[in-house]
Amino acid sequence: MPDETIPSVNIGVVGHVDHGKTTLVNALTGTWTDRHSEEMKRGISIRLGYADATFYKCSACEGSDAYTTSPTCPNCGGPATPFRAVSFVDAPGHETLMATMLSGSALMDGAMLVISANEHCPQPQTKEHLMALELVGIKKIVIVQNKIDVVTQKDALQHYQQIKDFIKGTIAEGAPIVPISAQKNINMGALVEALDQTIPIPERDPAATPFMLIARSFDINKPGGSWKDVKGGVIGGSLIAGVLKEGDDIEIRPGRQVQVENRVRWEPIETKIVSINTGSKKVIEATPGGLLGIATKLDPALTKSDTLAGQVAGLAGSLPPIRDKLKFKVMLMERVVGATSELKIEPLKFNEPLMLSVGTAVTVGVVSTTKKEAIEVTLKRPVCVAAGERIAISRQVGARWRLIGMGILLE
Ligand code: GTP
Repeated sequence: MPDETIPSVNIGVVGHVDHGKTTLVNALTGTWTDRHSEEMKRGISIRLGYADATFYKCSACEGSDAYTTSPTCPNCGGPATPFRAVSFVDAPGHETLMATMLSGSALMDGAMLVISANEHCPQPQTKEHLMALELVGIKKIVIVQNKIDVVTQKDALQHYQQIKDFIKGTIAEGAPIVPISAQKNINMGALVEALDQTIPIPERDPAATPFMLIARSFDINKPGGSWKDVKGGVIGGSLIAGVLKEGDDIEIRPGRQVQVENRVRWEPIETKIVSINTGSKKVIEATPGGLLGIATKLDPALTKSDTLAGQVAGLAGSLPPIRDKLKFKVMLMERVVGATSELKIEPLKFNEPLMLSVGTAVTVGVVSTTKKEAIEVTLKRPVCVAAGERIAISRQVGARWRLIGMGILLE
């Protein structure tokens, strides 16, 4: 019997800056994901935020009124029963932070696209984030029409129609659109119901080779502590397949950079799993879905400040190769979205720098071969990825990296 308080899916929270993603995650989970001081100062999310919520159902209420993320039914005040848990991945909405949004999208089983009702739809990153979901293949989408508390009913309906027109012909056509106010907790039951129905628990194969995407890494020791109490490095992210257990010998790739004479190489890091946390719970084994924190025996200097973000972890000897060149089939979009003026996308050019997002990794490289059937990019920093994976491609347009298409890794 699965534990209904352990998250089984990751739900991305995406959308234009200030449309209320962080406020919404707080309304659903009680956690503010903007934890970093710079984020607090600038008022925008910079890194990915994580927070878990348990979904409850009240047996005395009906329809959307029965759904909540609280053990007490907000409708009748009676007790509600937990039935599943989810993790939210809060992605930044600012246009300069698309790379972070893209690396977060690798972890998502489904997504909420948050659109503020008091601004015309679509805003640039509303478009760009939906395009990103489309390119990385996230089909399970719930559209959240937020801030309905600050518009009239007539304007809300007009805005609803703008959303409908915008999603027509996209991957989100047909997605439920739920009007809410995250700040005033209006209609949250309907949102929980839509999330439950649209993003069900996927079928997983526990016998699959374990594969974890690392999105964060930490040194959890407090300054000034005794060396005897030093705890090993922690990696955070999501298991995409298989099962990892306490005591497993794992490998992290590409690992660490070593310099031998004048040559720089990357060496996989091997370590042991000391303990596993999902949400705030300690577990003996981790299954896919939800976000994990894995404590290891690594020197915490290796894991501090997200040093290992973008790498992958799995059982020793089972991970895909480390590649410093990527050869892939390319599909470019017609126009650059996300900027105020939408430029036509020209074909990729020899020697052109590109930013590639592969899993949670973001790497920069230069186009070294352009053939019709495939292009090859020589990377500044290698990645560990299996053939067949999707690659999001961004090009420098003006001063920014803009998403222009996707690739499928060959060989
Ligand atoms: P980034 O992460 O920086 O992209 O922003 P965000 O989308 O997470 O937006 P955030 O949650 O920080 O909210 C932006 C502003 O909108 C804040 O001042 C919130 O208080 C306000 N806000 C969010 N939701 C609502 C809502 O439902 N109603 C009203 N009136 N204001 C809201």
